[in-house]
Amino acid sequence: MGQHTSVLLKEVVEGFENLKNGGIFVDCTVGGGGHSEGLLEKYEKISLIGMDRDPVALEVAKDRLSKFGQRVRLFQRNFSDLDELLDDLDVEKVDGIFADLGLSSFQIDSEDRGFSFKKSGPLDMQMGLNTKSAYDVVNGYEAEKLEKVIRDYSEERFARRIVSSIIEKRPIKSTNELVEAIFSSLPSYAKKDWKKIVTRVFQAIRIEVNEELENLSKLIEISKKRLKKGGRIGVISFHSLEDRIVKYGLKEGFVIITKKPIVPDYDEIKMNPRSRSAKLRIGERT
Ligand SMILES: C[S@@+](CC[C@H](N)C(=O)[O-])C[C@H]1O[C@@H](n2cnc3c(N)ncnc32)[C@H](O)[C@@H]1O
Repeated sequence: MGQHTSVLLKEVVEGFENLKNGGIFVDCTVGGGGHSEGLLEKYEKISLIGMDRDPVALEVAKDRLSKFGQRVRLFQRNFSDLDELLDDLDVEKVDGIFADLGLSSFQIDSEDRGFSFKKSGPLDMQMGLNTKSAYDVVNGYEAEKLEKVIRDYSEERFARRIVSSIIEKRPIKSTNELVEAIFSSLPSYAKKDWKKIVTRVFQAIRIEVNEELENLSKLIEISKKRLKKGGRIGVISFHSLEDRIVKYGLKEGFVIITKKPIVPDYDEIKMNPRSRSAKLRIGERT
């Protein structure tokens, strides 16, 4: 399995300077464990509660973080269940909460999980602990509902045509068949942009399958309850709708540490093109 390159690693570590005297840090999206490792190395007195909904990611993180021994506890959970997890662990409040949203490279690069239109795979797109797959959304939703998903989450102006084409070709079983259904629906003048359009439609379906926006809104609410005064939350988002939830969610109950979102510099984007749409916002609990 390849590597996942952590986005804005230095900025995230510096953003949690409130941890220099120790405390409990929650990494909600431990993934390959890169951010967690950076924080555990820099702030030697912290302990980590790490979670991910994806069991494969947790295996990778377990290996990478084993050198920290008892300082690390890892769980397969959806971060929207953070409240329950902290109750189970008898932890009332924590000093840091971090989420690095979206997908890890392990997920994108796994053909059998169907996240990427560049690879042929089943229509799946589940990150883990899901109640539906991309197959269910694409083949099971009524036209109107499917159009709303695509329009709302991708702002795609050809949403109606795309949905008509999908409905005509159902059942759609693979990523290749979905790409073909989208491509064939586009007017000829738009076909040159097919990759951008397909990327956006895939992302919209993924957001629906994994209930990504609902989970994020819940996490922000939970942070208000579970962060100590002076504790910090940091979120890296990759989609404008996510960034909006973070931006407005932090307006109440937090001092905003990042007046403008922190974004990767030229060198980082060159080295890791997947970082290009990342935005980091940090708030401190008042
Ligand atoms: C971009 S990766 C994180 C990479 C990690 N920060 C690193 O440095 O290796 C995002 C991870 O978040 C996980 N994830 C996304 N939504 C989640 C949720 N609601 N609850 C738990 N994990 C989630 C995904 O499964 C994925 O492994």
